[in-house]
Amino acid sequence: MMRLNIPLDGLPGTQALGARIAGGLRVGDAVALEGDLGAGKTTLARSILEGLGVTEDVPSPTFTLVQQYETPKLAVRHYDFYRIEDPSELRELGLDEALDEGAVLIEWPEKAPNAIPPDALHIKLTITSDRSRNAHIAGPSRWSGILKDVHV
Ligand SMILES: Nc1ncnc2c1ncn2[C@@H]1O[C@H](COP(=O)(O)OP(=O)(O)OP(=O)(O)O)[C@@H](O)[C@H]1O
Ligand SMILES: [Mg+2]
Repeated sequence: MMRLNIPLDGLPGTQALGARIAGGLRVGDAVALEGDLGAGKTTLARSILEGLGVTEDVPSPTFTLVQQYETPKLAVRHYDFYRIEDPSELRELGLDEALDEGAVLIEWPEKAPNAIPPDALHIKLTITSDRSRNAHIAGPSRWSGILKDVHV
C-alpha cells in the first residue's frame, strides 16, 4: 500500500499527474476517481487518456455511463457511476470484461463500492481554490515509484 498527497496547481498539475498515471497503467488496472461534483475527476480522466495518446474528444460519461477508447498501449473504458442506482446495472456495463481487456477509469466509485477491484488506484480530488485541487492517492505500492516527484 502507498499513500501520497499531491497538490495540483491548475490544469497543468492535473495534466502532469495524468501523464504519470498513463505511463504506469496496465491491463487489469482500475483507477477510482473520487471527489465532489466539480472536483476535477473528468479532467483527470481526460489527462490520463491524453497521456495514452488519445487525441479525440473525451466527453464526460455522465449520461452514456461509459466511453471506450483504443490507445496504442491498451484499451481503456471510462465510467461514470453517478447515475447508477442498482449495482446490477454494472453487469450491462461490462466492467469485468473491460478489466480483462484493458484498464478502467471510474468516476463516482462510491456508488458501487463492491464493484471496485481491491487493487484499484484510488484518487480523491478536493477543491483547494478555484484554480487548484489536491489529489489524495492510495493504492498498490508499485505506484509509488511511478507517482513520486510528480512536478506540478
Ligand atoms: N487542477 C485543476 N485546477 C483548476 N481547475 C480544475 C482542475 N481540475 C479541474 N478543474 C475545473 O473544475 C471544473 C470541474 O471539472 P470536472 O468536470 O473534471 O469535475 P468532475 O469531478 O468530473 O465533476 P462531476 O462530479 O460533475 O463529474 C472544470 O471547470 C475544470 O476545468
Ligand atoms: Mg465528471
